[in-house]
Amino acid sequence: MALKYISALEAASLIKNGESIGLSGFTPAGAAKATTKELAKLAIAEHEAGRPFQVSIFTGASTGQSTDGDMSNAQAIKFRAPYTTNPDFRKHVNQNEIAYNDLHLSHMAQELRYGFYGKLNWGILEVCDIEEKDGKVRAYLTAAGGISPTVAMLAEHVILELNAFHSKGAKLLHDVYQPLDPPYRQPIPITKVSDRIGKPYVEIDPAKIVGVVECNIPDEARGFKGADPITTQIGHNTAEFLVNDMKRGIIPSTFLPLQSGVGTTANAILGALGKDKNVPNFNIYTEVLQDSVVAMMLEGRVIDASACSLTVTNDCLMQVYDNIDYFKDHLTLRQSEISNSPEVIRRLGVIAINTAIEVDIYGNANSTQVSGTKMMNGIGGSGDFERNAYISIFTCPSTAKGGLISSIVPFVSHQDHSEHDVNVIVTEQGVADLRGKAPIERAKCIIENCAHPDYKQLLWDYLKIATGGHTHHNLPAAFAFHDTLARKGDMHLTDFAEYVKQ
Ligand code: COA
Repeated sequence: MALKYISALEAASLIKNGESIGLSGFTPAGAAKATTKELAKLAIAEHEAGRPFQVSIFTGASTGQSTDGDMSNAQAIKFRAPYTTNPDFRKHVNQNEIAYNDLHLSHMAQELRYGFYGKLNWGILEVCDIEEKDGKVRAYLTAAGGISPTVAMLAEHVILELNAFHSKGAKLLHDVYQPLDPPYRQPIPITKVSDRIGKPYVEIDPAKIVGVVECNIPDEARGFKGADPITTQIGHNTAEFLVNDMKRGIIPSTFLPLQSGVGTTANAILGALGKDKNVPNFNIYTEVLQDSVVAMMLEGRVIDASACSLTVTNDCLMQVYDNIDYFKDHLTLRQSEISNSPEVIRRLGVIAINTAIEVDIYGNANSTQVSGTKMMNGIGGSGDFERNAYISIFTCPSTAKGGLISSIVPFVSHQDHSEHDVNVIVTEQGVADLRGKAPIERAKCIIENCAHPDYKQLLWDYLKIATGGHTHHNLPAAFAFHDTLARKGDMHLTDFAEYVKQ
């Protein structure tokens, strides 16, 4: 069956108001983008003509400007899951214009298959190559595994974006595997970071494919701010802690695979770990591979890596493609339900290092909501990894916004990870090892080791007015830091006397 070639505008014109779309990609890496860019323009035209136009969008994680940015600016997104980092999208979510469902990334594909979100009308996959064999179409993905096989399986109609920006060599990186659903699910047979258990392509019924859109569009991944003295110090503190655990025999001398989250801090931590001569060469089992890891792979510092996406700058992506003969043997891109699988993470003994917005004195962590109400990005895979890690580590600078905010607070204003899932907290001030500690010991350890000197006394003062049984709190004052920030713009001005009856 000959595939039909159509323009992005023709592809977008096929999508109707109220329909749902599943996209390839994970972060802007590998995200389909030609069709959604046109769809945003069509939505504006429909709105100008007085007609409603909104769709639901599902992907592996975030996308780039063409989808989350342009479409949210066009008021074209009704519902979106599971993660985004786009500032325009964030603005519309925080204006309550989009129903945004923030869920653990390992859940997305299976929850679509379980039918939690209804019917999937469209699948749009970015591919680097297409083959037809044995009556099926083999679609070769680009820079991410995402939820593509699930989208291809569930969608009524499929559009393939054949993006010449990506090297066809990308096909050598993929291990496409979709587990069966309960009650038929089997163990995922990954016992080493480098294991490959599936096929290099997504198989699609050709009858579903309405068209192939040829394009040449760069990935929309952004670069991160470079390491600064604070994030570098967090990196050193984390590396020193891990080396010490290795010397004590807690981490085997062969070391264990590392996962490091998204963002500036995470990038700096991996950079610092790579430079620490006491850390042996290591493997990475993670969801997003950032620039710092690609450089370390080329140096042989990172031996094997498994990820869901190459969330790297385009220069870095070209480096991978130019050295594909090396990377095909050392780097595997998987679906998000495999890269983030609790089963595999726990089996491999992955050490998880993620960044929080704030943590409280008992070790509860907030990764998503600024002051408990404003969405930052979403939980991403932090819960998938931290809950199941060999050692679960959260990092953050001890203050934010030039010191007006303490990242160590009496009580988190929103909780993504409970104290039960958090072993260690690291700031530039030091390391709080919470393993084996009761709540009050945890509080003392965190204030002493992680809080910024400007906020230490305030946190000790809170502990003095906190009472109770197992965990001590003073409920009227528990959010005094956040309330003071909202009223006076500076957490330093917190006065517990305003909250506590004398
Ligand atoms: N209160 C208010 N704002 C805060 C804050 C706090 N306690 N802590 C950080 N911020 C702000 C920063 O000021 C910065 O704002 P800006 O963009 O206006 O400069 C922004 O949050 C990002 O912080 P930054 O220090 O640059 O950190 P980062 O790039 O390392 O990102 C997270 C930190 C938490 C936003 C990011 O790691 C994230 O989205 N995590 C959740 C998802 C996740 O963990 N995924 C990993 C799974 S693999």
